[in-house]
Amino acid sequence: MREELLRPGAEAVEAAEETTLRPRRLDEFVGQARLKEHLQIVLDAAKGRGQAADHILFAGPPGLGKTSLAGIIAAEMEVNLRITSGPALERAGDVAAILTNLEDGEVLFVDEIHRLPRAVEEVLYPAMEDFQLDIVIGKGPSARSIRLDLPRFTLVGATTRTGLVTGPLRDRFGFVGRLDYYETSDLIAIVERAARILGVPIDSEGAVEIARRSRGTPRIANRLLKRVRDYAEVRANGSVDKGVACDALALFEVDELGLDKIDRAILRTLCVTFAGRAVGLSTLAATIGEEADTVEDVYEPFLLQQGLLHRTPRGRVATPGGYAHLGLVVPAGADEGIE
Ligand SMILES: Nc1ncnc2c1ncn2[C@@H]1O[C@H](COP(=O)(O)OP(=O)(O)OP(=O)(O)O)[C@@H](O)[C@H]1O
Ligand SMILES: [Mg+2]
Repeated sequence: MREELLRPGAEAVEAAEETTLRPRRLDEFVGQARLKEHLQIVLDAAKGRGQAADHILFAGPPGLGKTSLAGIIAAEMEVNLRITSGPALERAGDVAAILTNLEDGEVLFVDEIHRLPRAVEEVLYPAMEDFQLDIVIGKGPSARSIRLDLPRFTLVGATTRTGLVTGPLRDRFGFVGRLDYYETSDLIAIVERAARILGVPIDSEGAVEIARRSRGTPRIANRLLKRVRDYAEVRANGSVDKGVACDALALFEVDELGLDKIDRAILRTLCVTFAGRAVGLSTLAATIGEEADTVEDVYEPFLLQQGLLHRTPRGRVATPGGYAHLGLVVPAGADEGIE
């Protein structure tokens, strides 16, 4: 897509760039070495047998590469990828239509699979297990059920929360891959790869600075790189080095640990507004003006992983590290950050 011809809005450009930055083959996918190795074995074995790969579930926080991996599986198996999502499949008929239109070996990607309606999930059970579809025709006493054979397909599911995927559904996946936050060394490689693709001149110290403030998340690494690039073009000579990266990230309010305004608002709410008392999720979300789901899926996992926040039976509390990060001391009588 040529920018000068189409003049798409900034958002369209960003979306197009996310697509260009998406790794297409397993060897372009940086990091997650164990997961990649397991996946390679599953795919090679299926290919060797000339079969569709077993159903695969990916779980992990947003932006770690679940959608990318679904595309990679289809590419490695040399088959088409069909994409849908839990909330898009409202009725049993929606999923039945998709399943009957699949071709042998194809990959069906269901994003946000924890949000599938129960009735749709029930259609998936026999489809995943026996490649059969039970459909009920008609209503009342004249209703009858017929069984259709489906092609062998691979279902790839993605979820930000395994806890919300029901047991029967989870059990029907032959392989569950959990994605963890990335090491800084992997994020450096991701930033350097993205800079190469986008044509951004960057030195290694600049890449390190962006990588270590990316909350362990490739999507954030790519986003920060683009903001730093903007800054470099407008306020400097277009190249990214450590100084430019630091200045740009300070301007966009990304701190030393990579926390953004909302992360810090969460900590501040716990440390200052509630002065160390345990705070329930919905209260916390309402106080900072975010959805509870967003706080739980997007912000909290990283704060937990960094040891800045704890979940207790009474609610959320900041840890001593959380106070220290804001330059505060733990108030007397604060709830202990221990379960
Ligand atoms: N391992 C990786 N190597 C290189 N780039 C990556 C990797 N993982 C993710 N990315 C980059 O991060 C972006 C986001 O990844 P992706 O969309 O696959 O995440 P996701 O886990 O599906 O997120 P969400 O839960 O929000 O849907 C991709 O466009 C890609 O550029
Ligand atoms: Mg995704």
